[in-house]
Amino acid sequence: MTPTTINPVHWADNGLVLLDQTLLPSREVERRYERWEDVADAIRTLVVRGAPAIGVAAAFGVALAARQSRAMGFDGLIADLELAIKGLAATRPTAVNLFWALERMKQAALASRTLPIAEVRARLLAEAEAIRGEDIARILTHCNAGALATAGYGTALGVVRAAHAAGKLALLWVDETRPVMQGSRLTAWECVREGIPHRLIADVVAASVMARGDVDLVVTGADRIAANGDTANKIGTYSLAVLAAHHRVPFYIAAPFSTIDPTLASGAEIPIEERDASEVRRVGAQPTAPGESPVFNPAFDVTPAGLITAIITERGVFRPPYRF
Ligand code: MRU
Repeated sequence: MTPTTINPVHWADNGLVLLDQTLLPSREVERRYERWEDVADAIRTLVVRGAPAIGVAAAFGVALAARQSRAMGFDGLIADLELAIKGLAATRPTAVNLFWALERMKQAALASRTLPIAEVRARLLAEAEAIRGEDIARILTHCNAGALATAGYGTALGVVRAAHAAGKLALLWVDETRPVMQGSRLTAWECVREGIPHRLIADVVAASVMARGDVDLVVTGADRIAANGDTANKIGTYSLAVLAAHHRVPFYIAAPFSTIDPTLASGAEIPIEERDASEVRRVGAQPTAPGESPVFNPAFDVTPAGLITAIITERGVFRPPYRF
């Protein structure tokens, strides 16, 4: 069976579309909503559930309330919106995302006070779309830390796979990973096989996609993690971590606990493999450098612990200062 993206809540044809979770796993039925009162019902009856999804659905509920309102002026509109916000807030008491999303929609409406009503409606829909978009990540990865590398689900690509299965992956940026191209040959192949939305980039492109704001997080695997959290991974990982820090993009390592080597105090003690010059002097069979040019070809580099937001393992997520 070809895996497809799960899309529990989205906007289509001037209405909110929810995958009715009360019918799963027996039936997959999508329902369309054009009234905030019905969205409130859908939240209450678990048609849509899960804290982030509830927040997104409620935000669209407010956007629908703005469309339902017959008010001619802003004061009338805000009164109608407040009624809807109160009704939506009364659906479920625990998930804070619901109240956070409703407050954000209210602030977006208040900030649009001077605009014509039609524009306020458009702004509110855009805000709801933004809330939904923020819950969906664009991830960048390097090398191959997928099923091929683990004889199973994958570490870094396992995180991506899980995000995709949960409908939370917008796009995976795949670094081609010079010089041996594990990204383009292997990770891209896994993505094609599994229907994971991805885009291949030359390693040198990572900086500009981050600068454009098109990367929400980086996740890579690891070959060895020292006791202080310094991590060896495919050459180029360290430069990605530096770029991520500069652009304030979270940088994660995903690895089994067995990758942690408690006998090494820091990354300086991790042995780094150096490989044959031929890997750098050509791409495939095609020579790309004079045969006599000297080459430095380390297969791995070490990312200092201070650049790593968190290390994800099967025993939990570790954050700095790292104590495993
Ligand atoms: O030289 P390779 O292809 O063996 O390098 C592999 C990596 O750097 C991976 O990221 C690492 O081993 C993690 S695999 C789960």
